[in-house]
Amino acid sequence: MRPIIIMDSGAGGLTVFEEISRMMPWLPVIYCADNAGFPYGPRSEDDVIQRVSHYLGVLCQQFDPILAVIACNTASTVALTRVRKELNIPVVGVVPAIKTAALHSRNKCIGLLATPGTVKRSYTDNLIDDFASDCEVIRVGSTRLVHLAERKLQGEPVAQWEFDKILEPFAKASQQPDQIVLGCTHFPLVKGELSKSMPTVAWVDSGEAIARRVYSLLNHHIPNNPDQPELQAFLTCDSPAGTRLAFAFAQRGFGELQVLQ
Ligand code: DGL
Repeated sequence: MRPIIIMDSGAGGLTVFEEISRMMPWLPVIYCADNAGFPYGPRSEDDVIQRVSHYLGVLCQQFDPILAVIACNTASTVALTRVRKELNIPVVGVVPAIKTAALHSRNKCIGLLATPGTVKRSYTDNLIDDFASDCEVIRVGSTRLVHLAERKLQGEPVAQWEFDKILEPFAKASQQPDQIVLGCTHFPLVKGELSKSMPTVAWVDSGEAIARRVYSLLNHHIPNNPDQPELQAFLTCDSPAGTRLAFAFAQRGFGELQVLQ
């Protein structure tokens, strides 16, 4: 079976991979972490679009995938239209689950925790206007949290006070949100730490919805005698931080980390 591509700036897309692999454990996956461009959050929109378009183009040429997932909110909110035009396969994007959070909020106050890029995008403004116009929406953009999530996957210690500090604008608001959207695929990796800081909040991410979308685009195909799928992971440059992610990828069944040629 032809593989699917999952791409992110780093290891955040593994949270999407986990949902996809839970639903379709037979699916071969090529994962690409653009660690040379990490983090995407502070980069300009044009820069992010160029990088994603370039690497997805290279991956499609090398691996002839059946479908691609941009497992990154920061990239999806700007690059989806362009790469959908460029590639002749379905491209699934990940965008903040504002609609779900607004639907489930009882006090009609929701939070959006994402990268600085995602919180200020017009794509996000439109999502809020379309699906959460009856809610107060508190937005917090944090690059530090992306680094903390990545550090945790690299086996480095992370301090609880850092999470408390990042979440302060939610915790200290006159009305606290009862639902907070994890609008960055890195953030479910530190959901335990976030919950420790704000135990009563419901954290909403898009991983499962993305897996369902992929399943439906593959026409709900379930092979009769599935083989163990090949899971390959690529970095876009050789770096010590990238190499420290090897264990996290191996734990999830991926072969040795390779550098994309
Ligand atoms: N995982 C990414 C996202 O969903 C990007 C984090 C970053 O590189 O800043 O937004």
